[in-house]
Amino acid sequence: MASIPVECLPESFYLPFLSDLARARQPSPIRSLFPLEATPGLLSLLAGKPNPTTFPFTSFSFSAQAPPVEDGQKAAGEIALTLSGAELADALQYGPTGGMAPLVDWLHGLQETVHGRLRGEGWTLSVGSGSQDLLSKAITALLNPGDNVLVQSPVYAGVIPLFHSLNCTQIEVEADADGISTESLRAILEGWPVGKPKPRVLYTIPYGGNPTGATATLSRRREVLQLAREHNFLIMEDDPYFYLFYGSERTPSYFAMERADPSSAGQPVGRVLRFDSISKILSAGMRIGFASGPAPILRAIDGHTATANLQPASLTQAITHKLLDAWGHDGFLAHTRGVSNFYRVKRDVFEAAMQRHLAGLAEWSAPQSGLFFWFKLLIPGAEDSAQVVRTQAFERGVLALPGTVFLPNGRATPYVRAAFSLLTPEEVDEALKRLRDTILDARAASAQ
Ligand SMILES: Cc1ncc(COP(=O)(O)O)c(C=O)c1O
Repeated sequence: MASIPVECLPESFYLPFLSDLARARQPSPIRSLFPLEATPGLLSLLAGKPNPTTFPFTSFSFSAQAPPVEDGQKAAGEIALTLSGAELADALQYGPTGGMAPLVDWLHGLQETVHGRLRGEGWTLSVGSGSQDLLSKAITALLNPGDNVLVQSPVYAGVIPLFHSLNCTQIEVEADADGISTESLRAILEGWPVGKPKPRVLYTIPYGGNPTGATATLSRRREVLQLAREHNFLIMEDDPYFYLFYGSERTPSYFAMERADPSSAGQPVGRVLRFDSISKILSAGMRIGFASGPAPILRAIDGHTATANLQPASLTQAITHKLLDAWGHDGFLAHTRGVSNFYRVKRDVFEAAMQRHLAGLAEWSAPQSGLFFWFKLLIPGAEDSAQVVRTQAFERGVLALPGTVFLPNGRATPYVRAAFSLLTPEEVDEALKRLRDTILDARAASAQ
C-alpha cells in the first residue's frame, strides 16, 4: 500500500485526556521489564514463570473450516491444526500484557489491509479479554469520576454500567436509521455552557449499532470527525459488528477516515480509539478483542491490564492465531463475508415474519448489520414497553429486551430489542406470533 505521509497528534496532546487514575498508575515492576527478556544473551531471573515441562498438556490439536475460497461460500473441508513445541509452551505460559507477538502482528496487518492504518504511524494495538475488557479499561483511562461523556443513544447496555460506576453524566446523542445524529451532537456541543469543560469522549457504535442495527452514513461520519476536531474530543469507535455488515454500501471506519478521507486532508491523525472483536465472527467464548489507537491511551489500558488480570489468556490467543495464520487475511475476510451473508438471510427471514405478524402493530427500520431488530410497539397510551415485554410477552413464551435498558438515563420508551441470530425460521414465526398476540392483548386492555 502506498504510504501518504501522515502527521500524528503528539504524545503530549493526550495528557489532558487521561484520567487521574491512568496518570497515577505505577507500572507493574515485573511486567514492565518483560520486553528486556528478549535481549540477546540475557539470562532472565525476572518473573515467576512456571516451568512448562511440569505442565501435563503435550499438544493441542483441533480442526477448523478450510479458508473459504469464494465469497459467501462455506469452505469445503477442514484443516487440522496443532499447537506443539515452542508454540505450545508459549500458549501455556504467561505472555505479554497487550497480547502475544504473533497475534498482535497479524492483527496489525489486518488493520493495515482493512483500515489503511500503517504501522509506525503513531498508533498501537492491544489484545484484551473481549472488547468489553478493553472498553472498560479505556473508559477508566479516559474519564474521571463525575465527568461528562457523550454517548450515542440508544446504546449497548453493556457500557451504561461502566459510565454509571464512575458517576459520569451521560449526555445522550440521538441516533436514527442513519446512525448517530450529527444534528443532535452539534446542538449539544454548540449549546454547551460557557466555562463548563466540554466532554472529552464520544462513545459510538458505527456499524449495526446495538440495539438499533443502524449504520452511520459517510456524511454523518465526516461531520462527527469534524466536530471532534472543532470541539476537541476523542471518538471511542466500538465496532464489533463491522464484519457483519450486510447493507448495500460499506462505509469506511472512523479509524480509516481520520487517516485517508478527503475531509481529513491536512488534519493530524489520532482522535480515534477503535475496538474490534472476534466474538461475532470466530468465537465469543475465546474472549478476544483488540483496541487500536493512540499509543499513550493503549499504554494506559495495558497498565490497567498489568495490574487487573495480567494479560488476555495465552491459550485462546495461540488458537486464534493458529487459525488466522493458516487462513491469511484474505481467507479471514472471505469468512467474514460468509458470516455477514448468513445474518443477511436471518435478517430477511425475521423481517418477513415481522411483516406477516406485526404490520400495523409495530414500527421498525431493517438493520444493516448486527444481530438485532429494534422496533416500536404501537400500543395507544403505552409510553414504555417494559411491562409488556417483561411480563406479558414472557408469559406468552417469548423473551426480548425492553428498550429502556439501552437508554443511558433509563427513560421510558416503547421500543423493544429482539435478537434474530439463533432462532430457526419456524421459531421466528412462532415467536412473532406470540408477540403479536401479546400486543393485541395490550391494545385491547388500553382501549378499555
Ligand atoms: C456494541 C458492543 N460492544 C462490545 C461488546 C462486547 O463484545 P466482546 O464479546 O468482544 O467483549 C458487545 C457484545 O455484544 C457489543 O454489542
